[in-house]
Amino acid sequence: MILLVCILTSLAVLSVHAHLLKPACYVRAAYCSSSSVQSLTCREPCTSLGDVEILLTGGDDVETPRFYIAHNRSANSIVVSHQGTNSHNILSILNDLELLRNPLNSTLFPKAPTEASLHAGFYETFDRTAQSVLSTVSAGLKSKGADNVLIVGHSLGAAIAVLDGMMLKTMLPANVPVQTRVFGLPRMGNSEWASFVDDTISDAFTFVTNNQDPVPQVPPTILGFKHPSHEVHIQSGNVTVSCNGQENTHCSAGNSLLDSLIADHRGPYFKAAISLVCDCG
Ligand SMILES: *[C@@H]1O[C@H](CO)[C@@H](O)[C@H](O)[C@H]1NC(C)=O
Ligand SMILES: *[C@@H]1O[C@H](CO)[C@@H](O)[C@H](O)[C@H]1NC(C)=O
Ligand SMILES: *[C@@H]1O[C@H](CO)[C@@H](O)[C@H](O)[C@H]1NC(C)=O
Repeated sequence: MILLVCILTSLAVLSVHAHLLKPACYVRAAYCSSSSVQSLTCREPCTSLGDVEILLTGGDDVETPRFYIAHNRSANSIVVSHQGTNSHNILSILNDLELLRNPLNSTLFPKAPTEASLHAGFYETFDRTAQSVLSTVSAGLKSKGADNVLIVGHSLGAAIAVLDGMMLKTMLPANVPVQTRVFGLPRMGNSEWASFVDDTISDAFTFVTNNQDPVPQVPPTILGFKHPSHEVHIQSGNVTVSCNGQENTHCSAGNSLLDSLIADHRGPYFKAAISLVCDCG
């Protein structure tokens, strides 16, 4: 029995690395300056991207986290990557607990249930880049002949990426696969919101939580916030587990906030230490 568990765990770890290491590398580069990403001169974070063409860079690292959109020529995919904000900032945004009752643009989210409520700050930040993300991805699919989309993000950028993923899943042609892989995601909204995420992007979505990072545990469930399904949790010693359903206590929901380590927010996630400062030139 114990042997079986070990075998299953190591198999799971292998497949998790294949699916999540590259997304973590894409996020790491989003912390570099827009000009160094545009010219692919951000050293290791840029070289690890391989054969990519940068289609758009944006954000200012103040109001709007930096982001870039790239074409990975060999995977023929369009990649959207959002940086987060520093740990102090994310916790201060989360202090502001204003939930907006279905603030969602009905063109971009026609199926949003009226009871779905979302953290106001997250929606407003998403809204500042949504139109340029939608138009650049749509144009990139056509002009590059790309046939799939990957959206990644960390921290506040993870929340933006989830909204991007849901928007693109809804707005792009149904035959375009859209994968959303995010790291250090805070709780975004209420239980109707969490179920709407599950219904919309389902298993094309993974959110990775690292060890004792407190950010995925705030705002607390006691205030009505809830995570969607599809969490992958990195435990101490780099044991990686994948949890079924929402708020599974085998993953970060089982952590005590008293033991939290804010340093875990930056990773490492599958070897890519996602810095909260630009340390990449
Ligand atoms: C781009 O796509 C190729 C082929 O799938 C893959 O090997 C490579 O790792 C991708 N680059 C990144 C940064 O994911
Ligand atoms: C909602 O999204 C549509 C489609 O992108 C856009 O044309 C419209 O201006 C947006 N509405 C608001 C209120 O932002
Ligand atoms: C976990 O993985 C990271 C990144 O590869 C590495 O730096 C660290 O030493 C590992 N920790 C353990 C306990 O294996």
